[in-house]
Amino acid sequence: MPNYDIKILALESSCDETSAAVVDNGKVLNNIIATQSVHIKYGGVVPELASRAHQQNIVPVVDEALKNSGIDKSELSAIAFTRGPGLLGALLVGTSFAKSMALGLNIPLIEVNHMQAHILAHFIDDPKPNFPFLCLTVSGGHTQIVLVKDYLDMEIVGETRDDAVGEAFDKSAKMLGLSYPGGPLIDKYAQLGNPDRFPFPPTEMPGLDYSFSGIKTGILYFLRDELKKNDKFIDENLNDICASIQKTLVDMLLQKLKKAAKQFKINQIAVAGGVSANSGLRNGLQTMAEKERWQVFIPAFEYCTDNAGMIAMAAHFKYLADDFSSQEVSALPRMKF
Ligand code: KG4
Ligand code: ZN
Repeated sequence: MPNYDIKILALESSCDETSAAVVDNGKVLNNIIATQSVHIKYGGVVPELASRAHQQNIVPVVDEALKNSGIDKSELSAIAFTRGPGLLGALLVGTSFAKSMALGLNIPLIEVNHMQAHILAHFIDDPKPNFPFLCLTVSGGHTQIVLVKDYLDMEIVGETRDDAVGEAFDKSAKMLGLSYPGGPLIDKYAQLGNPDRFPFPPTEMPGLDYSFSGIKTGILYFLRDELKKNDKFIDENLNDICASIQKTLVDMLLQKLKKAAKQFKINQIAVAGGVSANSGLRNGLQTMAEKERWQVFIPAFEYCTDNAGMIAMAAHFKYLADDFSSQEVSALPRMKF
């Protein structure tokens, strides 16, 4: 047993999941998530609706996390929250709730960077990577290659200059008439299709950066031209189109990751974020890991997508580092590391 007693309640409200978790001496006890289904019919997250849903969900989610952990709020050592990056209105709900709760209980407040937390999700369960390692963070809002030197010492060495890869999946899915979020659907149809049928040229970028907006436009023009010739083109070729899109996006992700691993001479490779659920990415990583002698780490799926468990884990390390926030802290939609 550690010779300290740290119990933290953590909140996550950066996008469209309202989540609360309790971490007890570095062990994440639970991870309560309320997913907002209100956005589905709009084909994407509507910021105003997200804030309203966070307001409705936050009290029940926090109550459930506390009840489920068997920890009374009077036993808490600190309250943690996602300060950014994310949607301003959404972040404000978690930020103000955490501030009032910390003030009311007279305990410290810990701000957490959402992207740093995605990476620290690797320390919730075993096996855990050793420092230094590289983390590919792939979500609906971000695509980054991060050099992780220590729990709270990270450097972005490559990132997208425009769209995130999850966005590229979702926007491609929308063009194909699939519902939101389309990433998992592209994955599903891709597993039945031929990935070499429609070669989409990948966008070349200097260094370790990515760009996904060109691919999106390429797919749009491709579909427009094919639909002019055959208005049933999508229906008749859906599996092959999805497999080809997925292969292009996954290859782009993996090529830069390979380049980064060589450049930094690192073979501990971690993946985080919602897109890490993608079967093409998982298979591609496995193949590359065998060839390049990598050790690959992917957290359990509930800790890959947005969740407060990862915020709680990050907060634990910040507590140990005496890194607290004042009551003046405010949400930071474009927060950097
Ligand atoms: O990390 P996340 O849950 O939320 C943030 O954006 O922060 O990631 C959501 C993204 C969406 O773009 C979704 O389409 C994508 O992850 N995604 C997938 C798969 N599962 C989720 N993309 C491709 N294949 C999947 N299996
Ligand atoms: Zn996220």
